[in-house]
Amino acid sequence: MTNPNSTETFQDKPIAQVHDYWNARPCNIRHSTKPVGTREYFDEVEARKYFVESHIPAFADFKRWKGKKVLEIGCGLGTDTINFARHGAQVTAVDLTEKSLELALQRAKVFGLEDRIRFIQANAEELSASVPVEPYDLVYSFGVIHHTPAPGKVLDEIRKYVTPQSTVKIMVYNRWSWKVLWILFVYGKGQFWKLNGLIAECSEAQTGCPVTYSYSRAGGTRWLKEHGFQTTDVVVDHIFPYVIAEYVQHRYKVLWYFRWMPRALFHALERAFGWHLCLTAKAE
Ligand SMILES: C[S@@+](CC[C@H](N)C(=O)[O-])C[C@H]1O[C@@H](n2cnc3c(N)ncnc32)[C@H](O)[C@@H]1O
Repeated sequence: MTNPNSTETFQDKPIAQVHDYWNARPCNIRHSTKPVGTREYFDEVEARKYFVESHIPAFADFKRWKGKKVLEIGCGLGTDTINFARHGAQVTAVDLTEKSLELALQRAKVFGLEDRIRFIQANAEELSASVPVEPYDLVYSFGVIHHTPAPGKVLDEIRKYVTPQSTVKIMVYNRWSWKVLWILFVYGKGQFWKLNGLIAECSEAQTGCPVTYSYSRAGGTRWLKEHGFQTTDVVVDHIFPYVIAEYVQHRYKVLWYFRWMPRALFHALERAFGWHLCLTAKAE
């Protein structure tokens, strides 16, 4: 079973459509207004990403992988890639799209980290056709596997790159989240029978993502088990609290209904109904 949580499947979507969507506008490409490809640009992209998604450094635990081998699946512009390398890891970074890889490589050059990162263009569903099979200490994938038509195939590929000592860290979207509720009522006018399509339509900064699966805590754990992984940690995090019209202008105005909320309560809400389901696992 590829996705135990979905009633609608994206399995028949051509991978070319996924490629074209992400290649046209790589993830986070507008996180900075500085000239694309400059040091200032990449610094701003990183600052904004870790400001808005502040749970990432704790999940990735960059310093733990110093001197270790990391395989990153779906590196995008390479924000996490650079940080693994900066902290002393040897990284193989894969993405489906040439545009993201071009910018991620440029980023590695700007920071003098090319010797620590090998970039490979590949479809993660067929990873071993392009990436030499060897064991890694960490296989990491943040916000990627739910965007491919057959996510289970990616897990089967990951199995080839791990030993019982390896760690696998995957972030996929959380089905039972504030964001899904918001999509359902604000965009979907409550049409729950169309939910999977609505989630895909509205999950990203640019509308019309061809594939976006989502998983419950239990469903994600079960899904990993079906593909030979034992989940060792599950963390739910991240509610986006800003007014979008302001956010796209690089201003951070908190929505009125979150503004009054004590920080501790907001974080508790994130831990219960966040959009990011962060799974840590080992091969069984
Ligand atoms: C939401 S972005 C996340 C990028 C990066 N991990 C980050 O957190 O900034 C999703 C990325 O997954 C890549 N992707 C989607 N399907 C893929 C596949 N089958 N194989 C490899 N990469 C894929 C896209 O090209 C895109 O760069």
